[in-house]
Amino acid sequence: MPADLLRRHVPLHRLNSFGLPAHADWLAVINAPAQLTALMRQPEWRYLQRFVLGGGSNLVLTGDFAGLVLQVKIAGRERVAEETDAWIVRAGAGENWHAFVCWTLECGWPGLENLALIPGTVGAAPIQNIGAYGLEMAERFHQLEAVDLETGESVMFDSPACQFGYRDSVFKREAAGRYLITAVTFRLPKRWQPVTRYADLARELETRRIAQPTARQIANAVVAIRSRKLPDPACIGNAGSFFKNPLVDAATFSHLAVRYPNLPHYPQPDGRIKLAAGWLIEHCGWKGQNRGPVGVYEHQALVLINRGGARGADVLRLARAIQETVWAEFGVELEPEPVVL
Ligand code: EPU
Repeated sequence: MPADLLRRHVPLHRLNSFGLPAHADWLAVINAPAQLTALMRQPEWRYLQRFVLGGGSNLVLTGDFAGLVLQVKIAGRERVAEETDAWIVRAGAGENWHAFVCWTLECGWPGLENLALIPGTVGAAPIQNIGAYGLEMAERFHQLEAVDLETGESVMFDSPACQFGYRDSVFKREAAGRYLITAVTFRLPKRWQPVTRYADLARELETRRIAQPTARQIANAVVAIRSRKLPDPACIGNAGSFFKNPLVDAATFSHLAVRYPNLPHYPQPDGRIKLAAGWLIEHCGWKGQNRGPVGVYEHQALVLINRGGARGADVLRLARAIQETVWAEFGVELEPEPVVL
């Protein structure tokens, strides 16, 4: 393997937002697609297990990784086109998501403001279709570029090919591990409409006495809410929401609503009902609880945190205990959101 690209036995604890300890046998920093092509020409390539790492903000490391970690640091951001009704903006996969959102706003291209302050990289955003405060990335997505790690070919994915769903895409299912995303392009409509229907956001704007917010004001409000509710990974290790909000059928919801009239619920277009996992977990008494070096964040029960010195097994043990009590109390299954390695 080309020595200038590869590092051996690399600690990963600073490369995951949970701060979990682990080493990778090999790590290569990818600054440009050409470096990846060079790596793929090496005979060892096909024998090594691979893992693509972005910001490491949606990841639980359970132990050392006996393979090659590809750390994506591809930079660059540009407006690639202006259409009559939209700006088309592209960013390298390694760009920091929040910095990219701020840059689009400074350039006068609104549309991503509800997704301000989400940790992680641009390239990771489509994998779990990041979403917050009434907006999902899929609504602003145009296309992405990726390298097929099996054939070395460059591939373009449009929105249908990505099969976006709630915190989901083809890259978490059939295509998991197959592609390395190198760049993402967004379509930001010129006829901008503020998205302010999310209860927390509407309340925050009301408190600030803002009736007709600008995109920057929405971003500021989102940053304020997130800073209050979610721990800063630079200070407290975490991976954001640890579970997805569960979807149940209408009959299950009707039964639950009789027993729990205050159960927050969000009807979906397909007839199912989304429940608030944070509420279910809090109702089971977990909020603010610790189990050894891990705990449930005191301001948002959907977030598990590293109180110091946690290992991946501690996180998974707590997650399982939470799943069991929520199942016992509500008969609802919670599905973890982060990738477990
Ligand atoms: N709730 C509680 N107790 C809690 C947390 C929440 O009762 O400890 C209740 C709230 O009162 C509210 C409802 O649950 O009625 C929803 O809470 P919140 O608005 O905080 O959002 P969430 O459903 O817990 C989701 C996303 C977050 C995203 C926020 C805002 C998922 C899994 N999580 O959380 O995304 O920031 O909405 O849009 O969909 C992430 O994915 O990592 C993430 C942080």
